[in-house]
Amino acid sequence: MSFQLSGSAPEIYENSMVPLWFGRWAEALLTFVSLKTGETVLDVACGTGVTTRIAKRDVGSDGRVTGLDINAGMLAKARELADDMDITWIESDVIGTGLPKDSFNAVISQHGYHYFPDQPAALKEFYRVLAPSGRIAMSIWDGHSAYTKALCSAVEKFISPEIAKKQRGQRQTPSANRLIAGLSEAGFRNVTVARQELSIKVPLAATFVPLHLGSMPIANAFHSLPNEEKEALIADVAHTLRGQVVDDQIVYQDAVNVVTGLK
Ligand SMILES: C[S@@+](CC[C@H](N)C(=O)[O-])C[C@H]1O[C@@H](n2cnc3c(N)ncnc32)[C@H](O)[C@@H]1O
Repeated sequence: MSFQLSGSAPEIYENSMVPLWFGRWAEALLTFVSLKTGETVLDVACGTGVTTRIAKRDVGSDGRVTGLDINAGMLAKARELADDMDITWIESDVIGTGLPKDSFNAVISQHGYHYFPDQPAALKEFYRVLAPSGRIAMSIWDGHSAYTKALCSAVEKFISPEIAKKQRGQRQTPSANRLIAGLSEAGFRNVTVARQELSIKVPLAATFVPLHLGSMPIANAFHSLPNEEKEALIADVAHTLRGQVVDDQIVYQDAVNVVTGLK
């Protein structure tokens, strides 16, 4: 499974998905590393940089923050948004970053880990670049929410089972036990997993589904549908989630696992 966005998707991702989803989880993730003024931080799979910017706010002008992502479009948006923030941006795969060993006090990553093609190698790379006693915190979806289940079911009906499989893959995430085993095998100690839940509020399906799918790797498959099929897909999601509409918003619980450890 991969997560690669092109065209206007990084813009839609930043303008819609960051305020509704990723910005909220970002503040929650950063509480796990308690960054201090002057520390050095690597944000892996930083995307448009929501967690990177918060990390820079926390370490202040004496701190050094690096955002790393494989996708040039996501990094272009990240650079634009942090124009005046003195953050280093690196376009690279998580493996073979070329970063010096023992150089960061903290490595963070939000919703990147399950896309890495070689997770044990990625964890070893994070261990290598962390300074002794450095800490890691990564958040990963804890499976599907009511919204993502409804969406994937509609994608299967109105686009195709193959595209639905791709979309479902975004939430096929490792169990807490697998995360603990993976970090321990890479050398981390004091490894823990904490489950975090948030009540998520998004606009009604007619507004939100096109924005969400427009910010996903399957955006082209959705945009290529004839209008009546697009409307049918959206209506299907709206119907499935009709019991979860409150004050013109869809309201549902979502959850992540945050895995932490020390070098
Ligand atoms: C769902 S986005 C999360 C972005 C950001 N962390 C956030 O919370 O908004 C997943 C990110 O992982 C990046 N990514 C996927 N595979 C990668 C890899 N092998 N190396 C580096 N980045 C990768 C994608 O380019 C994308 O920006």
